[in-house]
Amino acid sequence: MAWIGIDIGGTFIKGGLVADDGRVERTARRDSERFDLTALSAKIDDLVGELGADAGPRGIGVGAPGLVSNASVDFAPNMPALNGRDLAGIVGSRTGLPAVVRNDADMNAWGEFLAGAGQGVTHMVCITIGTGLGSGVIIDGKLHGGASGYGAEAGHIVVDPDGGPCCCGGRGCLETLVSAPAIVRRVEDALGKGRRSVLADGEAVTAKRVSEAATGGDELSVDTLSETGRYLGIGLTTLINVLNPEAIIVGGGVAAAGRLLLDPARREVDARAYSRLSQACRIVPAALGSDAGMVGAALFAMEYLGKASGRRHPAPAG
Ligand code: BGC
Repeated sequence: MAWIGIDIGGTFIKGGLVADDGRVERTARRDSERFDLTALSAKIDDLVGELGADAGPRGIGVGAPGLVSNASVDFAPNMPALNGRDLAGIVGSRTGLPAVVRNDADMNAWGEFLAGAGQGVTHMVCITIGTGLGSGVIIDGKLHGGASGYGAEAGHIVVDPDGGPCCCGGRGCLETLVSAPAIVRRVEDALGKGRRSVLADGEAVTAKRVSEAATGGDELSVDTLSETGRYLGIGLTTLINVLNPEAIIVGGGVAAAGRLLLDPARREVDARAYSRLSQACRIVPAALGSDAGMVGAALFAMEYLGKASGRRHPAPAG
């Protein structure tokens, strides 16, 4: 049996046909559409058609950024096309397959928990760092949603009370200091002040380029990742002190920086967290890379829709 998992990001919509055991049998992707729901839905249809054409998928799981309750994306500041939309209903009625929607970082966490770096762990947090900073919390083997299903939004833990504005309406949130845009902003500020770097070549600065330059020894890039990692560690300290997880898994595009980001974060946690709690927690890189979201969404669909008594959306006639 196979399920389709879809991960809607700001840049790409990634999809996978995933077997019951988490094996990815086929993948496809399209450029994303942040503002236009009709165009976004058409791309999802197209993706589902390509992935499922001859495979007879049983259902679709979708991960979307923002505050997602059962089926609907209630607030998505980074993806206005989805704001207030019953995405499960839209995907279900357009494809004729049952569909379920959850937060993108929750789906990454679920993928890592079942098929990645979280296998065998019971209490964990998975942090996803890209355009935003998302998180999924697993307690006692269950994905934590909270009263409205919106938990856990670790990107909006306040780490700087006088910090800059955040997309959530707050200020100084972890995401404003630990994300791809935050890294780019730091490097651009430093270049503007005349700091030397291989990145001062007139090309656009991206978090990926900063990572690559840091790996090549560029001092500004190493310092930038170190400062970013330091703030990450401050955020992780709160999560460790509150949740006492066995593991914190760090994934997303920015996590490709590896130890240059994670070592400063670990140092900060060691210096700040309640030591018995930090000693009980490993901080490790994600294992599934950019497949985590689609794998998690497909396996979530398998569990959620597989258990549902009937189809949530009728199959098309014929
Ligand atoms: C949003 C989260 C999302 C994360 C990654 C954050 O800005 O608040 O809901 O999971 O970005 O996309």
